[in-house]
Amino acid sequence: MEKKLKVANIGMKFGMCHVEGALSYEGAEIAAICDCDEENLRFAGERYNIPEEKRFTDYNDIVNNKDIDIVTVAVPDQLHKKISCDMLRAGKHVLCEKPLALTREDVKEIIEVSRESGCKFMVGQICRYTPAFEKAKEIIEAGTLGEVYFIESEYAHDYMKLVDNWRADPLRHGVIGGGCHAVDLIRWLVGDPEEVFAYGMHKLLPQVPYDDATIAIMKFGENVAGKVFVSTGCKRDYTMRTCIYGTKGTLICDNTSPTMTLFTTDSEGVVNEKPEIIEVEVNNHNAVKEFEVFANAVLNGKDVLTDAVEGAKTVEVCLSIVESSKTGKIVKPDYNF
Ligand SMILES: NC(=O)c1ccc[n+]([C@@H]2O[C@H](COP(=O)([O-])OP(=O)(O)OC[C@H]3O[C@@H](n4cnc5c(N)ncnc54)[C@H](O)[C@@H]3O)[C@@H](O)[C@H]2O)c1
Repeated sequence: MEKKLKVANIGMKFGMCHVEGALSYEGAEIAAICDCDEENLRFAGERYNIPEEKRFTDYNDIVNNKDIDIVTVAVPDQLHKKISCDMLRAGKHVLCEKPLALTREDVKEIIEVSRESGCKFMVGQICRYTPAFEKAKEIIEAGTLGEVYFIESEYAHDYMKLVDNWRADPLRHGVIGGGCHAVDLIRWLVGDPEEVFAYGMHKLLPQVPYDDATIAIMKFGENVAGKVFVSTGCKRDYTMRTCIYGTKGTLICDNTSPTMTLFTTDSEGVVNEKPEIIEVEVNNHNAVKEFEVFANAVLNGKDVLTDAVEGAKTVEVCLSIVESSKTGKIVKPDYNF
């Protein structure tokens, strides 16, 4: 029997979905779970039947464990850099939650350390494994929409009950923490914006020191534009509604909807009366696929799509949006990593 990848999962709240990812991957086994909060650790340990000798409150016990191959990191964003870099320096492959980090300095350090380590590093931009968005990518690449001239995506999620902790840090602006999903999605679907311009609003979450709604428009080269709307105080259910407009058709999709709507055109370029309704699985946290992609890259020595540079580019666009909303000026993201 081939040796299984030994996995350690750090952060037992959202990070429990990484435990599920590892448990569903045949070639992996869980060697350790870690959380500095004993109650969260116990809860996850009992839920997934992880024996007590594999439960740790100090992540350094994982750094020092030579048997561990892969570490997943799902701790507050401010700790992504420290824990990921410690693991990479210890020779472990790392799957770290989004956003890669909250500052340009931190993303640069992660890139440097991941390059030096020779280990695989992946940032968990989970929308790339969301069935509706995978399908959208397939439709765009098949040419069904013709040439895309406009894309818009939104991240609307009420954080009313979520922001009395590390999410209230001024560095953890909603555009970076949550909006990075919409920004990464449009980068993946149409490429890197050359310029961004944004307005911010602050009406719904007085308890955070940053805007709770931001609208950004972007230019992607000649004749292609985009828009991202981020609202972390919105009074509605969670959505990432995304519309892609092309010369031959238009696609409307959402990570929380079981259907996508595709408008196509006839041979004269007139829009067909009835759109095609495409059924799709709703799975907006497809951590099983995400872990599978990462573990396969580790086993086969393949490149990781959302490596540290890719994660850094998404953070760079988010930081540019925040900067523009504060200065009232167009900002050109700097992708020189
Ligand atoms: N991909 C997504 O859609 C998605 C969704 C939610 C959260 N996230 C990301 O996941 C990460 C965790 O978010 P969350 O919602 O679980 O946060 P949370 O605050 O609910 O949980 C964080 C957990 O990490 C533990 N922790 C903190 N410091 C630690 C340390 N030094 N060592 C070990 N454990 C430590 C805490 O005790 C807690 O159990 C964040 O980076 C967040 O942005 C991603």
